[in-house]
Amino acid sequence: MLGHLLSRHGIDNVILESKSQSHVIERVRAGVLEQGTVDLMHQVGLGERLRRQGLRHEGLFLAFNGRRHRIDMTGLTNGRAITIYGQNEVVRDLIEARTAADCPLHFEAPAVAVRGIETARSVIEYEVAGERKRLSCDFVAGCDGFHGIAREAIPRGALQAYERAYPFGWLGILADAPPTSDELVYSLHPRGFALFSMRSPSVTRLYLQCDPDTDIREWPDDRVWDELRRRLATDDGWAPAEGAITQKAVTPMRSFVVEPMHHGRLFLAGDAAHIVPPTGAKGLNLAMADVSRLSQALLEFYTSRRTDLLESYSARGVRRAWQAQRFSWLMTSTLHRMNTDNDFDYKRQVAELDYLVGSRAAMTSLAENYVGMPFD
Ligand code: PHB
Repeated sequence: MLGHLLSRHGIDNVILESKSQSHVIERVRAGVLEQGTVDLMHQVGLGERLRRQGLRHEGLFLAFNGRRHRIDMTGLTNGRAITIYGQNEVVRDLIEARTAADCPLHFEAPAVAVRGIETARSVIEYEVAGERKRLSCDFVAGCDGFHGIAREAIPRGALQAYERAYPFGWLGILADAPPTSDELVYSLHPRGFALFSMRSPSVTRLYLQCDPDTDIREWPDDRVWDELRRRLATDDGWAPAEGAITQKAVTPMRSFVVEPMHHGRLFLAGDAAHIVPPTGAKGLNLAMADVSRLSQALLEFYTSRRTDLLESYSARGVRRAWQAQRFSWLMTSTLHRMNTDNDFDYKRQVAELDYLVGSRAAMTSLAENYVGMPFD
């Protein structure tokens, strides 16, 4: 998206992607687009397939004690909503637009070193088909994820990291089954959290809280469905429809923030700078907010040589990241069973949810955070 935004304004940029094109297009990742992300896609001319295939959701369900309670997100936020559209579909749209515009995008081209970020001429060394290449540039955008090399290029003492690991992960599946609810269901259950989501009118996406080092081989399909049924089925007879499981994977959960998000001419964006647990559906959207802000800052630099926006990039991003941490933490701790929890904690969580679904003020707070704060 950063490449797309820059190219639209005539700012030359090169994208180095370590994985193959098919890998990034096929790998199923997040699926909830905030209103701000949807608006951005439309503004930059990438809304066509999103408009046709995205599923607009105006509410979500919280399930506990055998009952589902709907939160009217749109009614509580002056008409804002979320849209279900896979992150990999966003990536597919971006690749298509970039290829059509003939802008440089190199697949299977891992960056191996970043140098000179404290000077006006940075260099990225990368590899293509075993051959070492050099890319010289004014700025480096580190959009290479939590395990990327960009953050490592910043001198140790210049960064402060804040981190928390969780004693659980999510086992996620994709199933050829029509969604039996039009909206997401977040469920607190004595056996742990479960989430009902979807990707299309014929594909259901489901998650189970599990041990962080679960071996996927311990989860044959029957066991997955059995556990999902137990944690999701409600007293009114609602349950997810079952079908062939086409993908199954365990994701660890982590919270992470690095401050500041920039050093010299290197600017970090997305997971390179912050990770949120997926319960708030904020990761992809935070990354979009980052690159939207970074593109404006670079545009200002190239049109007027002013650096005000580049200088405020980090402070604004860190503030947004901590708001996302706060909300993701709240959703995660309210809906998951911790390994140190006892029955008291479960009752306390139920009371928390019971209060939430009975209070317009509390539901408004959840709704406005879930649909996302406006991009600045
Ligand atoms: C998903 O559909 O993949 C999804 C939905 C909501 C979340 C996380 C993931 O909070």
